[in-house]
Amino acid sequence: MIITKKVMRNVSLTAHPAGCKRYIQQQIAWVKNQAQNWEDTRYPKPIEEVLPKRVLVIGGSTGYGLSSRIVAAYTGGADTINVSFEREPSEKKTATPGWYNTMAFEQQAQKEGMKASSVFGDAFSIAIKEETAQKIKDELGQVDLVIYSLASPLRNDPTTGVTYRSVLKPLEKPFTALSVDLGDDVVKQATIDPATEGQVRETIKVMGGEDWTLWVDYLLKEGLLAEGAMTVAYSYIGPKITYPVYREGTIGKAKEHLENSASALSSKLEAIGGKAFVSVNKALVTRASAVIPVVPLYMALLYQVMKEKNLHEHCTQQIYRLFNDQLYTKGNIPTDQEGRLRVDDWEMLEDVQNEVERRWALQKEGQPLIQGDLEGVLAEYEQIHGFGFPDIDYEADIDPRIV
Ligand code: NAI
Repeated sequence: MIITKKVMRNVSLTAHPAGCKRYIQQQIAWVKNQAQNWEDTRYPKPIEEVLPKRVLVIGGSTGYGLSSRIVAAYTGGADTINVSFEREPSEKKTATPGWYNTMAFEQQAQKEGMKASSVFGDAFSIAIKEETAQKIKDELGQVDLVIYSLASPLRNDPTTGVTYRSVLKPLEKPFTALSVDLGDDVVKQATIDPATEGQVRETIKVMGGEDWTLWVDYLLKEGLLAEGAMTVAYSYIGPKITYPVYREGTIGKAKEHLENSASALSSKLEAIGGKAFVSVNKALVTRASAVIPVVPLYMALLYQVMKEKNLHEHCTQQIYRLFNDQLYTKGNIPTDQEGRLRVDDWEMLEDVQNEVERRWALQKEGQPLIQGDLEGVLAEYEQIHGFGFPDIDYEADIDPRIV
């Protein structure tokens, strides 16, 4: 089958196995090169002996979770287990990019002597938690780090059977702002109606800290967290301009819940000398973030400004800094006043934000986006689905089941 890209409402429906493999190879190559040659001095040398050796990544097949897995393996040599929700390929249908990424990563990591395996299924379910626990027992014994990086539109509560849906909406009043679609640079006005109270509650159920807590409680009870084990979940804050739809919207409420869960989890982990953190990461194009209204326009401006200042990073570079500059050094773990790790520090620099704001004010409805890097955002979005690599023959007739 000839695999072409198909994007509908900022969601890619296909993925290319050879391209996903190339994406993985590039991320691994960047981490290896940085760790060994220390070319970019802003990214510290890894300290092998303090890095985790057995890592569970929940949501480790794309975006920030995938990068966490790559960084854990290729800076500390960690054995890793991923839990993610995937569609497998068939003769006539491509798999999710996460499936191809996982196959490519695991082949490579295993070749280099690391253990790497996955549990595919619904991370919110009891069955997948049990299967994962068994896998940890069988393959790793215990884990030193649990990364929680799920981004999901819905959650089936395993105890009640109720399905909750997350929505990206403002609270109380409609929010109108300029926006662009990934495939079209014409700036439009977007209005998003406010969420109902029920939708706020449901979004917290899906993207808040409840399921993270269930995972950690369960692994702790089963004795699968090693002495000093840490757990990290990811959050976002961003600029004032996106507050109504993000930080002060439904997802922001869920992130507040996630952040509050960290301190409760830290208290529980004291028994094994462990700790729970939330890390606030940079806005980057992923399968999850591309569908947040208004955010693609912000990202297009942010990418351009950060590239001009030589500050732009990918998920892997963000997580490399998180591990080697913050979590696993010989010094104290640096947090903000709320106890959060911050790798959104470069995004939130005053001169970066002032420049993004200045450029935002130049945009006009019905006109093409100016002074932004929508092409860069789109190129990254295509690459995370395996498209747009110049050395891959996209006309080739290939079997979508083979990575
Ligand atoms: P993503 O869409 O690239 O990754 C989500 C992962 O969750 C995938 O591995 C997917 O398979 C897995 N997943 C989703 N539903 C699942 C389920 N029911 N069972 C098992 N696995 C499931 O998303 P991204 O952007 O990497 O997001 C991860 C976390 O990072 C989220 O909490 C997000 O809010 C946060 N974050 C994202 C930022 C961004 O700009 N992309 C910025 C800061 C934080």
